[in-house]
Amino acid sequence: MANDASVVSDAAPSGQLAASSRESRIDPNANPFTPPADSSLWRKSFLLGAATASYQIEGAVHEDGRLPSIWDTFSATPGKVLAGDTGEVACDHYHRWESDVDLLASLGLEAYRLSIAWPRVMDAAGQPNRKGLDFYRRLLTRLKEKGIQTFVTLYHWDLPQHLEDRGGWLNRDTAYRFADYADLVSREFAGMVDAWATLNEPWCSAFLGYGNGHHAPGLANGRYATQAMHHLLLAHGLALPVLRANDPASKKGIVANIGRGTANSDSAADRRAAELFEMQHNAWILDPLLKGAYPQDLFELWPGTEPLVLDGDMQTIAAPLDFLGINYYFRTNVESDGGHGFREVPLEGVERTQMGWEVFPDGLRDLLIGFSGTYRNLPPIYITENGMASDDKVVNGRVEDTQRIAFLKRHLGAVDEAIKAGVDVRGYFLWSLMDNFEWAFGYERRFGVVHVDYSTQKRTVKRSAELVSGFLEERKTRGS
Ligand code: FCB
Repeated sequence: MANDASVVSDAAPSGQLAASSRESRIDPNANPFTPPADSSLWRKSFLLGAATASYQIEGAVHEDGRLPSIWDTFSATPGKVLAGDTGEVACDHYHRWESDVDLLASLGLEAYRLSIAWPRVMDAAGQPNRKGLDFYRRLLTRLKEKGIQTFVTLYHWDLPQHLEDRGGWLNRDTAYRFADYADLVSREFAGMVDAWATLNEPWCSAFLGYGNGHHAPGLANGRYATQAMHHLLLAHGLALPVLRANDPASKKGIVANIGRGTANSDSAADRRAAELFEMQHNAWILDPLLKGAYPQDLFELWPGTEPLVLDGDMQTIAAPLDFLGINYYFRTNVESDGGHGFREVPLEGVERTQMGWEVFPDGLRDLLIGFSGTYRNLPPIYITENGMASDDKVVNGRVEDTQRIAFLKRHLGAVDEAIKAGVDVRGYFLWSLMDNFEWAFGYERRFGVVHVDYSTQKRTVKRSAELVSGFLEERKTRGS
């Protein structure tokens, strides 16, 4: 990985005149985030944005006809979320959206990834809730006015509770209800959205929600996880043609969180354990989407969990994608569990974040390069989330989030390496625009590039955001 000093000494590859003429003008000490002169990040076509999700920032859970979601229920259940935190107020974005968009624009961010809360826009009979729809219409309109590209996720985990009461993602009917919801919002917002993502991280919805119970709705059964996954992917596959019909000009895709697994030793058993880890994290989702079949190893790892799949489901799920959103955070080091599975062996002496997650940018590069080898039909990729939590404090009006600055620079370096190795990565979204409700960890874990004081709702731009913004400004004049 190039360090700052190499910015002026590395020779730009031949033919990259823009990069080499940049070299002499870049002061490596000016901005510790600034990528090396030959980085693909200097291309103005490489989109740099920030992401959020409805339940994590909006609050206003009882307002304007919003119905309860599974996260309202889950977070109100004692013991499920750290410190008993809930999304009831969150960042109060439902009321502060105008100043939040101003903030986004003032940072020069080019794109915003947000999610729509299903229980805000549709009632239990499947009828539109105008007030909820109006909120997103105002938001999307303002984003367009500011020239910010919009990446809209339809499902970032806030399933209406009334659907969970009828089985949630264990009920096949939920997939059809999702297609109805996709139909409603894509008819409403056609022409206002640059890219639609059906689902955020089906691995988390299925495994954490139904497999081990760490997330809403809090069920813990392996068979449930695979069935929930099948219905989630079916929901995605049913929604895609609906989105295409209603809003032909936009891009359509899905967002997956991918995990890097490394073997604790060179033994065949540990190497197999690492393979199995990645298979259940990545291939469980990507194989059905891109190959039209579940990996058979999954049912060797979790015997007896084959989901009920009806004729035609796999073709529906494998409909072509315009883009694949990738969320990456850390790696997991594993060994064989002595049987057919794996178990984690946390590494000592490695850099970790406030979440305890290891900082491991090479994992992102290696996975991206690996996918482009495994899936010949891999669509263009956007890194739809990457970032880290730190215990950030405002001191004299400033937040010096030094670890995050290095983290972002190194992960963007890994993306650049993947691009140079031939992977078609077109953009990157910081997770997150602002500190927010971090699911089972509540408000303690701060992922934002903007600090939020939850007692006053004051936003303070962290140093990382200033530097990303500075780079974007510089790219306007020096980029290619
Ligand atoms: C991802 C989620 C996102 C956020 C980050 C830290 O799994 O998509 O909402 O919580 O992790």
